[in-house]
Formats: sequence, C-alpha cells, structure tokens
Amino acid sequence: MQIGEVKRVRLGIFPTPLVELRRLSRELGGPRIFVKRDDLSGLGLGGNKVRKLEYALAEARELGATAIITAGGVQSNHCRLTTAAANLLGMKTYLILVGEEPELATGNLLVDKLLGAEEIHFLPGEVYEKRELVEQKVEQLSQRLSAAGEVPYFIPNGCRLLHGALGYAGCVREAVSQLHEMNLAPGWFVTACGTAGTQLGLLVGSLLYCGGQAKVLGISISRPKDYLRERLENGLGEALEFLGLAGKVPQPEITVYDEYVGEGYGVPTPAMREAVELLARLEGLILDPVYTGKAMAGLIDLIRQGRFGPDEVVVFVHTGGVPGLFADRQMAYFQ
Ligand SMILES: Cc1ncc(COP(=O)(O)O)c(C=O)c1O
Repeated sequence: MQIGEVKRVRLGIFPTPLVELRRLSRELGGPRIFVKRDDLSGLGLGGNKVRKLEYALAEARELGATAIITAGGVQSNHCRLTTAAANLLGMKTYLILVGEEPELATGNLLVDKLLGAEEIHFLPGEVYEKRELVEQKVEQLSQRLSAAGEVPYFIPNGCRLLHGALGYAGCVREAVSQLHEMNLAPGWFVTACGTAGTQLGLLVGSLLYCGGQAKVLGISISRPKDYLRERLENGLGEALEFLGLAGKVPQPEITVYDEYVGEGYGVPTPAMREAVELLARLEGLILDPVYTGKAMAGLIDLIRQGRFGPDEVVVFVHTGGVPGLFADRQMAYFQ
C-alpha cells in the first residue's frame, strides 16, 4: 500500500517548523544543525506521539472503538498525548501507569488529569519491568469495558512500530521539502530512541524521500543498543512489507548509541543537564530531561568527536516531552 493511502486522522498541526540552530553550530564549530520542532505538533502540549496517533486512532475509529486503553510510566508523554487525541475524537481513555501514585500530580500526570482520562490505574514498579502485569491489566480492562457495551482499543506504550514508521516517514517528507526551499538536503537525522518507532519512521522516510541518502542516528534513553537494533530490523521488515517495498530498496545502516543513558530511564546525567542548559542559553530552546536532553547530549558529544563534516546538514528531531521537566525528580535536579 502507498503511504498516502493509509487511513489517517488529523490531530496535529503540520508541518512543524524547521529552525536552524546557528549559535549552537558556532559554539561547536559546525556542522549545520537544524531542529525539527515536533514539540510544537499542536495537540496537548505537543510531541512525537501525535504523528503516530494519527495512524493508530484512524485504525481505532475504523474498528468502531469508543474507549482507548494505553500504558506507560507515571510521567508518560505517550499517555498524555493519547488522552488528548482520544478527547478530540470523543473517545474515553483508560490509562495504566507503572509507578507509585504520587501525592501531588506534577508534569504529565497533572496534564492527564486536566485532560480527564476516564480511569487512571497505578501499578507500582519500574516502567520497563512490568510487562506481564500491564498485559493482565489491559486484558481485565478490555473485558470489563466490552461487557459494559464499550468497544475498547489497546495502544501499546509508544504506539505500534508500524504507526511510528508511517508517522515519522511523514516527518522526513516535511523536513526534505523545508530544506529544499533553502537549497539544502538532509545529511543526518538524530532522534531520541525509546520504543524505536520514531527512528524507524525516519529510516523509512529516508528510503522513501531521500533515496536512503540521509543517515539516521538514534540515541537510546533506556534500552541497550543491541535490543533496539534488532527491534528496528524487525520493524523495518514489517514496514517495508506493508508498503510493498520489501527487496526493492537498499538496506539502510541502523545506528543506535546507548552511551548516553546514564544510570537508567529518566535518571538525570550531567551531560543531559549541560545540553539542556546550553540549548536554553544559546537558542532559547527548551529540551526535556528524559528524552531530548539525553539525545542532544549524544549529538553534542558526537560533534565534539568529529562525527560530522563542518558543512553537513544535521536535523535534530525535538520529540517533545517538556512537561516532564516539571515532574518532581527533574525539578529537584535542576534547582
Ligand atoms: C518526548 C519523547 N521523545 C522521544 C521518545 C521516544 O520515541 P520512540 O518511542 O518512538 O523511540 C518518546 C517516547 O518514548 C518521548 O515521549
């Protein structure tokens, strides 16, 4: 199927701006760095999930869904944006949040509450270790909702890889056309990598809209690179099959760095802090501490290592997440 034929609901405001970070380039001695402002994707304080949800919720609507069930950490950007998107389509949202319920709702959780998620269930534990319990809870909720006459639709944390592939291929299409206006072409895309859907979409987009010429670097914010590389290989196979391109396009290089995670998911690192402060002070650009701060720390380090030529065009995808800056742990770190 051609990408333009896949059902999609409009949720965000696209294209998002593409802005050159001239002062950062000067500070680091090149390359040319652009930021693709997907933090301004227009819904529920913005972020990368909006592009993915346009495909996920189109599928949900096709299936007649009335209730969306999804899961993530207590400070999940994905859960915030899923709730906002479901509101727009008149569907209810049921959230399963892994972690203790805090006394004070801050950051994303505060926004989930403002958005009026129908039910929020907390599962104490660590985000990446509770898969089975989350699955059981999803099953229980689905059965209860179905029995009550609702049509539940489950969206996994970060959305299905295929929906990430479709959404972020669209991001490349936009960036290519925005750079074309400046007589430029993207040499690199750099993104934070969590569930890998965004990176997968950038890889697919590079194949579709740049003949595979734009390279894609993923900076892991939690998982080991071998795990993510395998996930990307499988996801790429599935996406190319879906688009009828299997065997018709070159195999792209899959590059993921896990050197910038630090002690774990959401745990602040000094390099993240340096990156967040540098971008704020040079460019007035606010990054988040969990995803884009660590990804930018990776990009800065790779630039310092001489990974890019001085005139190469690097597009850093600002995947959002800024509400996470206003979660207790992160606010305390930045005092
Ligand atoms: C702000 C932000 N940036 C990046 C990511 C990572 O994106 P992906 O899960 O597609 O790898 C996420 C979600 O996990 C996110 O919330």
